[in-house]
Amino acid sequence: MDLKDKQILLGVTGGIAAYKSVELLRLFKKAGASVTVAMTESAGHFVGRTTFEVLSENPVLSDLYFDTESQVKHIDIALQADVAVIAPATANIAGKLAHGIADDALTTTLLAVTCPVVICPSMNSFMYENIRVQRNLDILEQDGWHILDPDSGALACKTTGAGRLPEPWYIFDRVQALLTPKDLKGKKVLISAGPTLEAIDPVRYISNHSSGKMGFAVARAAENRGANVTLVAGPVHLDTPVGVNRADVTSCEEMARAMLENLPDADIIIKVAAVADYRAADPKGSKIKKRSKGRDLNLSMVENPDILKQIGRQKKTGQFLVGFAAETDDLETYAIEKMEKKNLDMIAANRVGEPDSGFCADTNRVTLFFKNGNSKEIPLMEKEQLAHILIDSIIEQMG
Ligand code: PMT
Repeated sequence: MDLKDKQILLGVTGGIAAYKSVELLRLFKKAGASVTVAMTESAGHFVGRTTFEVLSENPVLSDLYFDTESQVKHIDIALQADVAVIAPATANIAGKLAHGIADDALTTTLLAVTCPVVICPSMNSFMYENIRVQRNLDILEQDGWHILDPDSGALACKTTGAGRLPEPWYIFDRVQALLTPKDLKGKKVLISAGPTLEAIDPVRYISNHSSGKMGFAVARAAENRGANVTLVAGPVHLDTPVGVNRADVTSCEEMARAMLENLPDADIIIKVAAVADYRAADPKGSKIKKRSKGRDLNLSMVENPDILKQIGRQKKTGQFLVGFAAETDDLETYAIEKMEKKNLDMIAANRVGEPDSGFCADTNRVTLFFKNGNSKEIPLMEKEQLAHILIDSIIEQMG
């Protein structure tokens, strides 16, 4: 889901982590949101209002008396916001908000909001653990505001512990999840992603170019929409989407085991992984030595289990099974053939071998084919956005 048409109120208070709120603002803007920044006077000691003004393309709310516009506007901004995010939130702001104190532009605006509020505490670890601060955060949480726990680690004040503002991508992800309708709540979604890697010897292997981006995007989207997600991942270099249970595997046989183990509980199964169809018949225990000049090496290969076909055979009534088809040509014929042979409810066919779609790209272009004979063409777009459209179609088909 992108954040187009969403109004975000970004509150910035005076902590060293205020620089991270600049990146957070950029992420919100990139996702299409309209952002208004409200900052405290002390936040201005860390990041200048001009930075926020330029990047948000909106006036910054910082002084109720001297910003002529903000005298009335702060109530409009509060009422129009779809979400308010305070990052970083100091002990001071938590204390004021917990006790209904409104003595500056940010606090007066926040006391007027009716939307969800996300508080991202960031401070020295002793301050964070102080019973008074914890009590104030508890009050805010009990009142229905969302508290994002700070990260632990080295802090600017030279101590180590809890108090670091989480990375902007994490805050962005949690805000996005909060704004996403929970239409998969109560559903268990099992997803495979990435390549498999089939050993030839301890040094070499057979694999493919799958980066895992498409499958991870589907996992993230499903989690954001309220599902309990298990992601079986081949070897990829991607962070686990927040809130997703991840099982790492290497070979097709390992992936088959992990998928079949999780299958009985799953309501929706989406196989995005690019599985190697063959593996070495006799993987060697030690490195195969280079032959003398002129002598070729012949590798004998055996067929790997077709995981999707196996799942299609075992599928119970009520389980919805989705496959992906990676094709270089004759997309429709091959995709429909795979859907029928593997007993799928839906298949997403993407052309591979093009720079902007399929393997490794951040974007993809697919055609969805459904068991009932219908199809839907999805134009080129970010994999993150495509993942949501894929889920929309699954929900529609499941009725
Ligand atoms: O990971 P990215 O870099 O983001 O790239 C995304 C992607 C191109 C890998 C993805 O969009 C995609 O197309 N995935 C399917 C790749 C593939 O293996 O397609 P296939 O046409 O060979 O297989 C058809 C289906 O059968 C797939 O769902 C596959 O997971 C499954 N299969 C295939 C072989 C096998 N032995 N077991 C399987 O389960």
